[in-house]
Amino acid sequence: MGLHIRQASVIYPTADARPPVEALREINLEILQDDFVVALGASGCGKSTLLSLIAGFLAPTSGEILLDGAMVNGPGADRAVVFQKHALMPWLNVLDNVAFGLKLQGVAEAKRHDVARGFIRLLGLADFEGSRVYNLSGGMQQRVGIARALTCDPKILLMDEPLGALDALTREKAQELILNIWHKTSKSVFFITHSVEEALFMGTKLIVMSPRPGRITHRFDLPFSRQFLTGTPARDVKASREFIALREEVLKIIFADEEAAA
Ligand SMILES: Nc1ncnc2c1ncn2[C@@H]1O[C@H](COP(=O)(O)OP(=O)(O)O)[C@@H](O)[C@H]1O
Ligand SMILES: [Mg+2]
Repeated sequence: MGLHIRQASVIYPTADARPPVEALREINLEILQDDFVVALGASGCGKSTLLSLIAGFLAPTSGEILLDGAMVNGPGADRAVVFQKHALMPWLNVLDNVAFGLKLQGVAEAKRHDVARGFIRLLGLADFEGSRVYNLSGGMQQRVGIARALTCDPKILLMDEPLGALDALTREKAQELILNIWHKTSKSVFFITHSVEEALFMGTKLIVMSPRPGRITHRFDLPFSRQFLTGTPARDVKASREFIALREEVLKIIFADEEAAA
């Protein structure tokens, strides 16, 4: 059970005479129930391409992706995506944005509003369900995007730098909120970030990728999100000796990759 990526490679063809782009080479990855897998790596190392494979937006050039034993061959309601730019419908209020996926599935209005309200409460947006999304702050818009992704009850939540556009304080609060929701809903998560600190704090598993071609070069099992979820304050987790040591180790890996690529 769970998601299994086996020997997946992606080569993007190019239109003109330039050589094709080898975006991913022989990726092996498992995302099991309750896993929070974080992908970290320099820009261009194939993180979004990997997410697109899992989402079914893109087929691998070779290799395979299996979800609960069945081949992934397109998008499905069992995988929901949250992007950095929230991609909400500006003409709809919060409630209808959050209920949108259920509407597409043909769920009747009363029922879909009922489900949506549960997730709106979970994300701390109960006072705003009638607000137009363009009146909300960036952090709140992103919470609407997460609530919308959760309403369809996906097995896996896919997040591509979902907090990248937020200011530092809002971002830390959003990290904590996402961990609490992950814990409550026991989804699997695949989460992309540029921030080493965010990666270490959020994930149960970390993959570090390197570019040209995109490969997984390092893997770590992480204890920190569990520490937070069992009561240690987030700042204390991030200031612990264990956390700082691993942060420096991972930063060294990333810097070495960026220098090699420069
Ligand atoms: N549709 C595409 N066609 C051609 N090349 C692409 C396409 N999408 C991404 N790439 C290239 O593939 C590599 C990996 O891209 P991407 O997965 O977006 O990396 P990341 O998300 O880690 O920054 C990059 O070199 C990028 O320019
Ligand atoms: Mg990307």
